[in-house]
Amino acid sequence: MSTVVIVGAQWGDEGKGKIVDYYTEHADVVVRYAGGPNAGHTLVVGDDKLIVRLIPSGILRAGTRCVLAQGMVIDPAVLVSEIDELERRALSPAARLFISDRAHVILPFHVTIDSLREGSQRGNLPLGTTKRGNGPAYEDKAARRGLRMGALRDWASAESCIERAIAAWAPVLRDLGAEVPTARAVADWLRPLAARLIPRLADTSTLVEEAIRGGKNVLLEGAQGTLLDIDHGTYPYVTSSSASAGGAAAGAGIGPTRIDSVVGITKAYATRVGEGPFPTELHDSVGEKLREDGAEFGSVTGRPRRTGWLDIPALRYAARVNGLDGLAITKLDVLTGHRELQVCVAYETGKGRTNDFPIEQLAQPDGARPIYEKLAGWSESLAGIRTLAELPKAARDYLAFLEQRAGIPVCLVSVGPRRDQTIDQKNPFLA
Ligand code: GDP
Ligand code: IMO
Ligand code: MG
Repeated sequence: MSTVVIVGAQWGDEGKGKIVDYYTEHADVVVRYAGGPNAGHTLVVGDDKLIVRLIPSGILRAGTRCVLAQGMVIDPAVLVSEIDELERRALSPAARLFISDRAHVILPFHVTIDSLREGSQRGNLPLGTTKRGNGPAYEDKAARRGLRMGALRDWASAESCIERAIAAWAPVLRDLGAEVPTARAVADWLRPLAARLIPRLADTSTLVEEAIRGGKNVLLEGAQGTLLDIDHGTYPYVTSSSASAGGAAAGAGIGPTRIDSVVGITKAYATRVGEGPFPTELHDSVGEKLREDGAEFGSVTGRPRRTGWLDIPALRYAARVNGLDGLAITKLDVLTGHRELQVCVAYETGKGRTNDFPIEQLAQPDGARPIYEKLAGWSESLAGIRTLAELPKAARDYLAFLEQRAGIPVCLVSVGPRRDQTIDQKNPFLA
C-alpha cells in the first residue's frame, strides 16, 4: 500500500492526466487536491480522447473511487456537465465520485470577474488566466466569505453567504462595467445543480484517511504545476492555489506523514500558457516545430502554448520544493526530428553564473540568461518503443543527461499519449 503524489514539475500541461490514468491501474482512490476547472487533463484510451477539468483522471478505471478534495474550487455547472459527459460514455461516474463538503464553490460572478479583469486596463496585471473563476473563488476563500460545497445542504445559510460575497465584489463588478447579480438570481442558478451534487458530498478528509489506514493505494493528483504554485511559482504569474506536493496534504485533508512518495512529471522540453517569465522560450521555427509536433494548444482554452528547451535548474528547483522521489518524462517522442537539442544547464545573472533557478531575478528584464549545452538529436519515431533499450542512442543519452543533471531517478518515460506508449521503469505503487 502506498500514498503517492503526482505533481507537475513545470508550468502545467506536463501530461499529468495520462500518467495519473496510467498509474491508476494500481490505485484504489484518486484524489484531486487543488485547483479547479482551470485544469485540463487529457486521457487517451485507444482512439478515444477525454479532457477532464474537475473530475480526477482516475475516472476511466472501473471501480476506482475519485475524490474532489477540500483544496479545490468547483464550478457546479462544469462538474455536472462533466458527470453527464461521462454518463453518456457509460462510465457511470456518479457512484464513484466523492465531493468534499469543504471544497469552495465557483459562482458565475467569479467567472465574470476573472474574464473582465483580464481584459481591463484599470490597474490589473494581465496574467493570461484561464478565465474560469479560480482566482476570485480562492480570493473569497481567503477573505473568509467563500461558499463551501457543504453549505448547499442549508439553503438559507448558502444564500446569505452568496449575499456577503456579492456585497464585497459589487464595486469591482461595477468598475468592470458588469451587472451586479442578486443573491436570489445566483441561488436560482445554483439550486438545480446543487440537487445533483448534494448526494455526492462527503467528509473526504476522513474518507482518504480511512482508505490509507485500510491498506489501499491512494494517488493524490496535482493540477497546474510547481512553477504556477502560489508560493513556489513565478509570482505573480501563478495560479491561486498550492499546486505543488506541499499542497497535497492540506488539499486532500491528510497529514503529511501519510504521504509515501512524490513523482514529478516533466515534458522532455518546456511549455507555458499565459503570461510570465519563461527563460528558455523559443520564438523561432524550432519552437514552432515543438508546438506542432507536440500539439501544444491549451486543452481548456485552445490557446497556443509557448514552447522552449528543457530547463534543468528549474527542474532541480521543482525536485527540491516538492521533495521529488522520481521523475516521469513525457513527450520524449516529440523531440524526434531535431539535428541538435539544447538543454539549459545554468544561468548567468548579475551576480555571476549559477546552477540554481534564479526565480527572483527572472522578474527583472535581463535578470538571468540561460546557458545551454548541446546534445545530439535523433530522427527515428519513438511511438512504438516500449523499452529503454530500444530507444535510439541519442535519446538514451538525452535521458541519462537529464537524470544525472536533475539528480532524480527517472521512473517512467512516455512516448505517446496512449496508455501503452509508456516505459515503466519503477512504478511507485509496486516499489
Ligand atoms: P496535463 O494538464 O498535465 O494533464 O496535460 P494536458 O492533458 O493538458 O496536455 C498534455 C498533452 O500531451 C495531452 O494532449 C496528452 O494527450 C499529450 N501527451 C501526454 N503524454 C504524451 C507523450 O508522451 N507524447 C505525446 N506525443 N503526447 C503526450
Ligand atoms: P493543468 O492542470 C497550464 C495558468 C494560466 C495562467 C495562470 C493563472 O492542465 O496543467 P488561473 O486560471 O489559474 O487563474 O491562471 O496559470 N494555468 C495553467 N497553465 N496548465 C494548467 O492546468 C493551468 N491552470 C492555470 O494559463 O497563466
Ligand atoms: Mg492541462
